[in-house]
Amino acid sequence: MPKWAAVIMAAGKGTRMKSKLPKVMHRLAGKPLIAHVFDTVQQIGIDKTILILGHGKEPIESYFRGKVQVVFQDEQLGTGHAVMQALPELEGVDHVLVLSGDQPLFRAETLQHLLDVHEREDAVATVLTACFQDPFGYGRIVRSGGAFQMIVEEKDAQPEERLIAEINTGTYGFKVSALREALAGLTPQNAQGEYYLTGVFNVFQRSRNKVATALVEDPGEALGINSRVQLAEAERTLRQRILAYWMAEGVTIVDPATTYIDAEVELAQDVILLPFTMLQGRTTIGEDAIIGPHVLLDRCRCGKGSEITHTVAREAVLGDGCKVGPFAYLRPGTELGPDVKVGDFVEVKNSKVGQGSKIPHLSYIGDADIGQAVNIGAGTITCNYDGMKKYLTVIGDHCFVGSNSNLVAPVTVGEGAYIGAGSTITKDVPARALAVERSRQVIREDWHRE
Ligand code: UD1
Ligand code: CA
Repeated sequence: MPKWAAVIMAAGKGTRMKSKLPKVMHRLAGKPLIAHVFDTVQQIGIDKTILILGHGKEPIESYFRGKVQVVFQDEQLGTGHAVMQALPELEGVDHVLVLSGDQPLFRAETLQHLLDVHEREDAVATVLTACFQDPFGYGRIVRSGGAFQMIVEEKDAQPEERLIAEINTGTYGFKVSALREALAGLTPQNAQGEYYLTGVFNVFQRSRNKVATALVEDPGEALGINSRVQLAEAERTLRQRILAYWMAEGVTIVDPATTYIDAEVELAQDVILLPFTMLQGRTTIGEDAIIGPHVLLDRCRCGKGSEITHTVAREAVLGDGCKVGPFAYLRPGTELGPDVKVGDFVEVKNSKVGQGSKIPHLSYIGDADIGQAVNIGAGTITCNYDGMKKYLTVIGDHCFVGSNSNLVAPVTVGEGAYIGAGSTITKDVPARALAVERSRQVIREDWHRE
């Protein structure tokens, strides 16, 4: 098997995005554009990938740190010049797949098809092409008697060449030795004064080297992101793809039009997603869970059979059979054991809640460690902050915390203890004790008449 490497070009500025963020770091289904390209390349089994970076390289480099080789193109003199920067890294590699970091929609099957055609045809280069209804702006594939001749850029094209619908997707397979030779002869003699990568095809044409083409069946895959409008278009395409994928895997999506699932989400069989659900980041949902309506889960892990409604949760872990919402807010560091109930207007942050415990209404639980089968009464607050530092509240198994209690941390309530409603607890409560902290009720008979 010949050895393949991939080069992803991403040194360009992306001016039309009008953004502080480098273009390829804009997110699509929760993942940077360039990460989509990188991951698809990984899927077809190419393990050596080189990124070409220039403009806005820092955030891209730090995103990929340690995962990929980076080459810098300090001046952006064109796509040909970009690939030249990667040549020293291609020693010992037979073929190279060249892609752009701003074309995130290619399927693994499509790239695999390009590689297959390239190897089967034994070509020095294979161009991935697409037929566009509106080919404006793209390089056109010029053929003669059906055979590939060259690629002409929009700005250099003759009027009759501009009518050609078959375009260069900017994705190619090259034999490294032939590419090396052809790049050495490249000049910037064209309308843009750039070293066009597409110029190598003129060299191949002159030396009568074989160039093959592979057509993308679905031209939508070739969409390049140059503007925010195209970013939204790509989001729509990818979203449909992701929704269709999960439905095929046995997930019920009641209203695909209002359901948003990021690329890295994992769903088990028989999950039901109700309308207005957004699943973000590396969120995972276990079998038979019912999520929605109106739920946002960001980087959460939800166990089997959990039910979550009208809730926002970030970086939270929910055991099997949890019931959350309506109107709950689970913040980072929340860990609910199995069969925990978190009800309406409850906020939980950086807290563990043991199996079968219930926080049904109107509570703030922050920096707490709550045992199993605990009942937290309505309106309970863990007072975790003294204006300078956060402190821990520990509540043992089987405790009963009466309604409208304040637990002033650091404080420990022993196993099986009771807190009388309305208490402000500042001292530790021993196991199985009752703690009440409130003034005695006073009754004045006939006070009204007095
Ligand atoms: C390129 C192709 C065109 C094709 C189109 C498909 C050339 C000359 N033309 O045109 O035939 O139809 O892609 O989208 O290649 N880049 C660098 N360094 C540079 C210049 C560009 O890394 O010096 C990167 C860009 O960041 C981008 C990619 O290369 O990711 C493509 O560059 P771009 O300027 O967008 O090329 P197009 O004009 O779109
Ligand atoms: Ca482009």
